[in-house]
Amino acid sequence: MMNIILLGPPGAGKGTQAARLQAERGMIQLSTGDMLREARASGSPIGDKVKAIMDAGELVSDEIVTALIGERLDTCADCGAIFDGFPRTKAQAEALDLLLAERGRKLDHVIELAVDEDALVKRITGRFSCAKCATGYHDSFKPTQVPGVCDGCGSTEFVRRKDDNEENVRTRIAEHRAKTAPLRPYYDERGLVRRVDGMASVDEVAAQIAAILDGEA
Ligand code: AP5
Ligand code: MG
Repeated sequence: MMNIILLGPPGAGKGTQAARLQAERGMIQLSTGDMLREARASGSPIGDKVKAIMDAGELVSDEIVTALIGERLDTCADCGAIFDGFPRTKAQAEALDLLLAERGRKLDHVIELAVDEDALVKRITGRFSCAKCATGYHDSFKPTQVPGVCDGCGSTEFVRRKDDNEENVRTRIAEHRAKTAPLRPYYDERGLVRRVDGMASVDEVAAQIAAILDGEA
């Protein structure tokens, strides 16, 4: 039962790789971004509260995201967990240590997706996903095989995230630099950080992560 964190700026490929690990290894993807978007879509009080913050590209409060992660962890006591987009601040990292310890879990790896910041805006502004099965695509890097038709389920409806515009991405990158990048030394001290080349192809990044999880790298 492994517990891993995917660490990297917006557009680094955290969601892409987490979805793949979930499908291939039966681990659960715990994406606070997805959880918050679900809360918004359902019109819950939390959803209403975080709307403006997310649309501005700023960080939601540590209390809200930590509570969401705790709830989700309890839905599968013996699944491996992939933390995607969490933790994002030192306070969240400390809260995660506590959540894991309380459940007799421990962190195995913090996988850093190293990317060139100049590539992030293009990655994010080209992103879209299937409205029905949520498979993720990219206008240039991962188009659907048949134009306008989802490879996964055949749906012809797609969605783009509200926060995927250039101005917002720049704020998200700045938030990452100021608040999330300092987590690298926090985990480095514990010898947990493994770096992979996030600029390689999706398959190549997946292979690098697989080698780490299988103890071959
Ligand atoms: P969140 O949903 O976590 O967004 P993010 O961190 O900005 O990251 P992204 O989802 O944009 O990027 P990704 O790394 O998942 O990239 P992806 O795989 O999609 O958070 C959204 C908002 O919610 C935040 O701004 C904040 O307000 C709030 N929030 C969330 N968590 C929070 C927390 N813990 N605390 C406080 N607030 C929180 O890839 C991007 C694109 O590139 C895709 O189109 C993909 O197809 C393509 N691609 C991926 N890999 C490759 C590759 N190797 N080569 C070429 N293209 C690739
Ligand atoms: Mg994501």
